[in-house]
Amino acid sequence: MKIAILPGDGIGPEIIAQAVKVLNALEEPFEMETAAVGGAGYAAYGHPLPEVTLNLTKKADAILFGAVGDWQYDTLERSLRPEQAILGLRKNLNLFANLRPAILYPELAGASSLKPEIVSGLDILIIRELTGDIYFGQPRGVRIAADGTYIGEREGFDTMRYSEPEIRRIAHVAFQAAQKRCKRLTSVDKANVLETSQFWRDIVRQVHLEYPEVGLEHMYVDNAAMQLIKAPKEFDVIVTGNMFGDILSDEAAMLTGSIGMLPSASLDVNNKGLYEPSHGSAPDIAGKGLANPLATILSAAMMLRFSLAKPLQADRIENAVKKVLSQGLRTPDIYANGTKKVGTVEMGNAVVSALST
Ligand code: IPM
Ligand code: MG
Repeated sequence: MKIAILPGDGIGPEIIAQAVKVLNALEEPFEMETAAVGGAGYAAYGHPLPEVTLNLTKKADAILFGAVGDWQYDTLERSLRPEQAILGLRKNLNLFANLRPAILYPELAGASSLKPEIVSGLDILIIRELTGDIYFGQPRGVRIAADGTYIGEREGFDTMRYSEPEIRRIAHVAFQAAQKRCKRLTSVDKANVLETSQFWRDIVRQVHLEYPEVGLEHMYVDNAAMQLIKAPKEFDVIVTGNMFGDILSDEAAMLTGSIGMLPSASLDVNNKGLYEPSHGSAPDIAGKGLANPLATILSAAMMLRFSLAKPLQADRIENAVKKVLSQGLRTPDIYANGTKKVGTVEMGNAVVSALST
């Protein structure tokens, strides 16, 4: 089985190195090949998603992705900015289903900005559609307005759109995920205002007929943002479009107090996937050995479970992570009094040791 390793920018290379170390320690016959992406891709080949990198990801069975983005590339034109790498991979590989679990580890309850009784035991799964919506809809751009109140003035515009097959396939993923959990699905939209959302709601309702054992609720996105803070444990699985999912998944991640802990998976129809931590490239702490590698290590576990059919190895990694937390090891982002502060490499080593016990 072939794994494409794309470290990217900022803390990407440091955290990926720890995840690769953990994968090697499993002693499975994985073939891993590394390629440049994001700012690193631009620096090496003049493009954030170089052709060699894209070709490698097409051949691979799974992709482990660090993070992209660095200030030095912010002034490039949009098509050359590091973020285009991840958007391009999602689109080119048809990675339409983004799974973002938000789990609160009991040891880290104090790290949440919410009261422990509101968040303790939190375990929700956000399923975000990842290849459609206003992120990719055409047309888009800046033009001279031809109608409306501001004719003749410049205006920026994007297009929100979802086709029926796109909504159907993400709804199936969501209902099936809910079936395996607490059988409760919340579909989030803005159907009180947007045509696209009303259509989304109608299609989700139709797909629900095939999953009568799952309870379905529809919620407007503004209310969902509020309920996530007020009573997050009321949610089990949330399904939503690309844009709302981007926003709500950051909010949900922060409920756990530790975005440095949260993995994610982006899957195609055949469960080929790209796995990445939910956090970004954090260029301010890059190269200092401070970054928390656990989200990336947990992403590797998701990769073993969803794309490489190695659920027992995934369990091993997840148990090892729980173990190092219970040993009191903490990178600075999750540090609290009475725990032991460690760096990126030390944390990776601790997970490797915990694998064998
Ligand atoms: C995410 C990120 C990306 C997104 C950016 C980097 C393009 O915020 O994965 O949530 O908006 O999808
Ligand atoms: Mg985001």
